[in-house]
Amino acid sequence: MPARSRDFVLPDQHGRHAVVTGANSGIGFETARRLAQSGAEVVLAVRDAARGAEAVRRIRAAHPGAAASVETLDLSVLESVAAFARLLLDRDRPLDLLVNNAGIMAVPTRHTTADGFELQFGTNHLGHFALTGRLLPLLRRGDAPRVVTVSSIAHRTGRIDFDDLQSERSYRPLGAYGRSKLANLLFARELQRRSDRNGWGLLSTAAHPGSTLTNLQSTGPNLGTDRQGRGLGGLLMALPGMSQQPDRGALPTLYAATSPDATAGGYYGPDGVFGLTGGPAPAGSRRTADDEQVAARLWEVSEQLTHVRYDRLSAAT
Ligand SMILES: NC(=O)c1ccc[n+]([C@@H]2O[C@H](COP(=O)([O-])OP(=O)(O)OC[C@H]3O[C@@H](n4cnc5c(N)ncnc54)[C@H](OP(=O)(O)O)[C@@H]3O)[C@@H](O)[C@H]2O)c1
Repeated sequence: MPARSRDFVLPDQHGRHAVVTGANSGIGFETARRLAQSGAEVVLAVRDAARGAEAVRRIRAAHPGAAASVETLDLSVLESVAAFARLLLDRDRPLDLLVNNAGIMAVPTRHTTADGFELQFGTNHLGHFALTGRLLPLLRRGDAPRVVTVSSIAHRTGRIDFDDLQSERSYRPLGAYGRSKLANLLFARELQRRSDRNGWGLLSTAAHPGSTLTNLQSTGPNLGTDRQGRGLGGLLMALPGMSQQPDRGALPTLYAATSPDATAGGYYGPDGVFGLTGGPAPAGSRRTADDEQVAARLWEVSEQLTHVRYDRLSAAT
């Protein structure tokens, strides 16, 4: 029986080398902060270097001596993903933990990434798919290496429509987000299966933070508008009991990233009512998230779209 949050104490992380995407704010920041506090050497992979430097400053101020550094990574630009991976590959330091956390939600009108993908699917899923594949050689040399991919309760609303993956025919802000989050969960489980088949040695887990007040409720919804702030969804979330703060929201991710009880392909979220708040516990997922045929097809399409082929990149040099 996996421990619940009341029992969950982050294991010592000294000697572990971790990358957390989107670590300058919200759940990613808290994940990076707690990992660094517990002794891990953490690379904050962020798209805005100044915001990343400020996050590192805050971590070091809270935990003097914490080993946190920042590198630039824009998941909506495949060349940026490749450059980030090249940097780490050049350093040649085995990677023990990759947290695929960054995300954008509910962009009101269809936007695209630098490579022409719908922005949410392209950033949340394809960017992390490419990143994980490119970092695989370092992960394979890690100590009990883990990959955590952050999904959402919203995966339940998503549909993998292979005829319109980029929402060119029909775009719905939350539909595209739900698709990207279902893809995150399908990816996490398919990664575990492929790792098992190919001997990559990974533990692939997934997590969701329930309902957590962060910039997620403003960055995407305000994109391309002159609005600021969180809007109606954010106001509803701020009602008592409807959400939690990022330090709590990060617990399922931290559990998936460090707990000895986390299982292969496991999915963790808050244990409160409707999974909105609470401490980390196994989370339910929609049946499609376990559909191996959909997962395998999505993997192949993702390889074609990103030009990242795991079998060619998996060499543990
Ligand atoms: N908050 C919730 O209730 C909730 C619920 C379910 C799932 N989630 C998931 O939790 C994860 C973290 O979100 P959050 O709530 O902590 O929101 P957040 O505070 O907005 O953090 C998201 C992070 O992702 C980064 N990001 C966005 N686009 C990026 C790109 N193209 N390249 C690199 N980084 C990018 C953001 O960078 P900038 O600061 O530069 O924008 C930010 O650091 C996401 O995957 C989200 O889907 C959150």
